[in-house]
Amino acid sequence: MWRYREMLPVISDHNRITLGEGMTPLLHLGRLGEKFGFSDLWLKDEGQNPTGSFKARGISVAVSRAKELGIVSCVIPTAGNAGGALSAYCAAGGINATVVMPKNAPVTFQKECKFYGADVKLLDGLIDACGLVASKISERTGAFNFATLKEPYRLEGKKTIGYEIAEQMNWQLPDVILFPTGGGTGLIGMWKAFNEMVNLGWIEDRLPKMVVVQSRNCSPLVDCFSHESTNKAGYTGSIANGIVVPSPFGKEMIMRVIRESNGYAISVTDDQIVEGIEEISRTEGLLISPEGAATWMALNDLVSQVAISKHEKILIFNTASGYKYLDSLRSK
Ligand SMILES: Cc1ncc(COP(=O)(O)O)c(C=O)c1O
Repeated sequence: MWRYREMLPVISDHNRITLGEGMTPLLHLGRLGEKFGFSDLWLKDEGQNPTGSFKARGISVAVSRAKELGIVSCVIPTAGNAGGALSAYCAAGGINATVVMPKNAPVTFQKECKFYGADVKLLDGLIDACGLVASKISERTGAFNFATLKEPYRLEGKKTIGYEIAEQMNWQLPDVILFPTGGGTGLIGMWKAFNEMVNLGWIEDRLPKMVVVQSRNCSPLVDCFSHESTNKAGYTGSIANGIVVPSPFGKEMIMRVIRESNGYAISVTDDQIVEGIEEISRTEGLLISPEGAATWMALNDLVSQVAISKHEKILIFNTASGYKYLDSLRSK
C-alpha cells in the first residue's frame, strides 16, 4: 500500500506502522460469471489484509500519522473490524487503544482486540451508541478519537484501494463498482483516488458507477437515495454488522459520490447474504464476509431491475475475511 506514499499524509517513513496491508488480490470470478451469465466479473479480496479486513488500510495510515503527531492514546467506536485493526496497529506502534463495540458483535471481533492489548468496552445498541460513548471517553481522557470521518487520515489510507484497482486493471477502471457501505470511508476514499488520478493524468475521466450496498435491516443511505424518510428507530442489527450504521456522519459526501457517478444505493436481506456466502464459497472457493456477499446479491438485484447489464465490467468487493464470522454463521 505504501507504494502510493507520495499521495499519503505520513511525512517521515520512520513513523510508518505497517503490517503488510494492501495489494490484495483482484480475482476474476470465472466460474460464477459463467454460471450466472456475467462476462467480465471481478472481486477485490480485501479479506486478505492484516486483521482480515480493508480497515487495515485506513488504520495503518491514521495510526502512523497519529504517531507522527505524538499521540499516545486513542479511542474508536466500531462495529468490529475497525476496532480489531486499530488494536493491532496501536500494539505495533506502542499507542494505547480503547475500543467501544456493540455487545452483540461476533465474539471473534471482541477477542482479537483483547489479544492486541486494547481496552474493550461492550455496549447495548448499535455503533451510534458506541460513538457517543467514544466521544465522552475522548473528552474525559484526551484520547484521540478515530471515529469514521471525524479525523482525516483513515480516508487517505482507504483511498489506496482506488489506486490499486487502477494499477491492477492496467489503468482501465471497471464500469461498475459495488461496495458494502456503512460510514462510507471506503466509497468516498475510492472516489477521491479516482479524481486524483484523473487530475494526475493517469486515467481517463470516464469513472465507474458507484453502488452503495446496505443491509435491509439498516439502510439509511438507501432511504436517502430513494427519498424515503429514514426510520432510525426501526433500524436493527444484521449479520453484515460492518454496514449497520444508522446515522452515517458522511451521508452527504456518500450521496455526492452516488450522484456524480450515476450510481445507486440498494439493500439486501440477511437471507440473501447467507445465500451469497454459500454460492461464492462453493463456486469460487472463497469464504467471503457477509458484507462482501451483500455486494454479489445486490448485483443480481440490479441486473433484474435492468440497472446494470451482465456484459459490463463489474467489480464487487469482499471487505473482510469470512473466517472472522464463522461462529456467527450457520451452514447448510
Ligand atoms: C467488513 C466491512 N465491510 C464494510 C464496512 C463499511 O465500511 P465503511 O464504514 O467504510 O462504509 C465495514 C465497516 O465496519 C466492514 O467491517
